[in-house]
Amino acid sequence: MAARSKTSRAEPAPAPAVPAAGSPLHVAIVMDGNGRWAKHRGLPRTMGHRAGVEALRRTVSAAPDLGVRWLTVFGFSTENWSRPASEVRELMALPKRYFDSDLKRLEREGVRVRSVGRRQGLPEDLVTLLDEAERRTAQNDRFFLQIAFNYGGQADIADAARRLAEAAAAGRLDPASVDEATFAGALSTAGLPPPDLIIRPSGEQRLSNFLLWEAAYAELVFQDVLWPDYAAGDLSAAIDIFRSRDRRFGGAVADDILVAG
Ligand code: FPP
Repeated sequence: MAARSKTSRAEPAPAPAVPAAGSPLHVAIVMDGNGRWAKHRGLPRTMGHRAGVEALRRTVSAAPDLGVRWLTVFGFSTENWSRPASEVRELMALPKRYFDSDLKRLEREGVRVRSVGRRQGLPEDLVTLLDEAERRTAQNDRFFLQIAFNYGGQADIADAARRLAEAAAAGRLDPASVDEATFAGALSTAGLPPPDLIIRPSGEQRLSNFLLWEAAYAELVFQDVLWPDYAAGDLSAAIDIFRSRDRRFGGAVADDILVAG
């Protein structure tokens, strides 16, 4: 078996059986490093993406036991269209690869699936598949898997602004009433709380247009492991880092506030 890739650490500790208090409820992941994983093995990038689907499968199965309730993953960005046509075709085929083997199980295990991002531009059979996954799991509420596909944070913000502007122009919305909550409600991610924790494996340290609005107070954790190697222990390690952080949401720690007089 090939070793974990060059950027990987030693094998992480296994995930705890009982989630610790203070775990993030909504975790979002930029599934990065598929290409490098394949390159390290002398394989075509396609094989890295396919191995990435296996890592997604492992992560969806590990997350609920770690206390995660909502998981958002970045499957295809509005900028990924600039890749070679053959790679774009492979990326478009990944949801089918995943759902062909996993949709029944997700349905049975109480996982609700939703995809966010622009539907226009996607192959018709992919749109049908994404709609079917949403429809078949619509009644589930044990765990929520949100797949960002043909998604870009800036595109989503622009789409929300256009929807609000159209509603205002049609007299259905008072422009003076638009505030942060109205705006969040017009995004494709509406209905889910913002992510508590955003993870990016592969050593890169940027958001790459992922959840730009929603990331306002997310904790960011960057890990050196490449996505196809991602295991339950890596998710558990990221959650441990999250739990060690001091989240203040712009406020101050009570102990540090000096009371005048
Ligand atoms: C980025 O790695 C990864 C992607 C563009 C695709 C990620 C998608 C999956 C892992 C599975 C998607 C499955 C569903 C159900 C949506 P990269 O190719 O940029 O890696 P590199 O930076 O090493 O080249």
